Amino acid sequence: MKKTLIGLAVTAAFAVPAMAQQSVEVLHWWTSGGEAAALGVLKGNLEKQGIKWNDMPVAGGGGEQAMTAVRARVTAGNPPTAVQMLGFDIQDWAKQGVLADLNDVAAKEGWDKTVPAALQRFSKFNGKWVAAPVNVHSTNWVWANKEVLAKAGITADPKTWDEFIADGEKLQKAGFIALAHGGQPWQEATMFDGVVISTGGVDFYRKAFIDLDPKSLNSPTMLKAFDRMAQLRKLVDKDFSGRDWNVAAGMVISGKAGFQIMGDWAKGEFIGAKKVPGKDFSCFRVPGTQGVVSFNSDQFAMFKVGADKVAAQTKLASAIMDPGFQSAFNVVKGSVPARTDVSDKDFDDCGKKGMKDFAEANTKNTLVGSMAHGHAVPASIKNAFYDVITRHFNGQIDSKKAVVELAAAAKS
Ligand code: GAL
Repeated sequence: MKKTLIGLAVTAAFAVPAMAQQSVEVLHWWTSGGEAAALGVLKGNLEKQGIKWNDMPVAGGGGEQAMTAVRARVTAGNPPTAVQMLGFDIQDWAKQGVLADLNDVAAKEGWDKTVPAALQRFSKFNGKWVAAPVNVHSTNWVWANKEVLAKAGITADPKTWDEFIADGEKLQKAGFIALAHGGQPWQEATMFDGVVISTGGVDFYRKAFIDLDPKSLNSPTMLKAFDRMAQLRKLVDKDFSGRDWNVAAGMVISGKAGFQIMGDWAKGEFIGAKKVPGKDFSCFRVPGTQGVVSFNSDQFAMFKVGADKVAAQTKLASAIMDPGFQSAFNVVKGSVPARTDVSDKDFDDCGKKGMKDFAEANTKNTLVGSMAHGHAVPASIKNAFYDVITRHFNGQIDSKKAVVELAAAAKS
């Protein structure tokens, strides 16, 4: 008995420090079926290394609610280990001096050589890596139900804007919802990314949304882009208001609707529902935007944490940048790898097209940051743009007023 007690005491004395499990707390907004499945790949990889995953999901597509939650945590002096973040938000937090320095692991693993410059522009601040990019999404995509299209007499993907609208009308005549849409500001802005490129081309998009040139923002071309949004408004059903994006994707998947204009995270929902690209659904660029990619890259911004948490944080960063992981994760998520050295062999046809489009746009200078997803302008301006686009989509202001307000919003 005495021996056993001593034995237990000895075990306990040594067991406590040895068993203090490493852990990470990760804040994100990946709560849809496809998103959660993709995140599960990362969680699984860490757990295999004995690192506990404390999940902090904050629902809300596009991440606005998640960013509010981060603010509260940082203000309280208790930031999570890592936070899913987009473009300018990373830079904004880096400026506050609250992000960690990942340069050691980045140098050891050669991130500088494998991550495209367009992403590094957001992952680094003052020469220091502060975030690990997990993917590259793009927003100028259309998702279509092939059977529904066939029933409406549509045999090929529309190539021009006018063809797209005409196909939408055919779908409505055949009794389908033409465009599955969720009436939330970020979703309207997501469609607007593609509509602006389609209407004015990549140089116009750049002048308007990246250079914030007032003459482009308040121009006949932008007026036409808003008129096109009004055309799209006629293609949505009456219950669109407030609907989540994955519910809208579900309408295309189940055959209620023909099209959805959404970033390639929508593909994660199709894959999760066991739908096959080319057979059950098709993916094509918003008509008039082929060759251009409006991208957003999800990155995990790493916050400064206590010394006891740094080792697990570094392992998380390293797991995110692992080439095998980048393939496995992005196959499920619908996005493409954030590294240039990952093979496309495990990707489906839409994924292969996404990787090819991204590489080509990168070399041809037709790769532009998504306004809707924080890669063109900082959050303050982005939110002011959202407001104008949404009020216009909901018929509160006409196109003429919208262009004036868009130019004003750029000054906010
Ligand atoms: C985007 C994000 C994607 C996807 C989407 C919908 O901002 O980059 O990964 O999650 O929101 O939630």
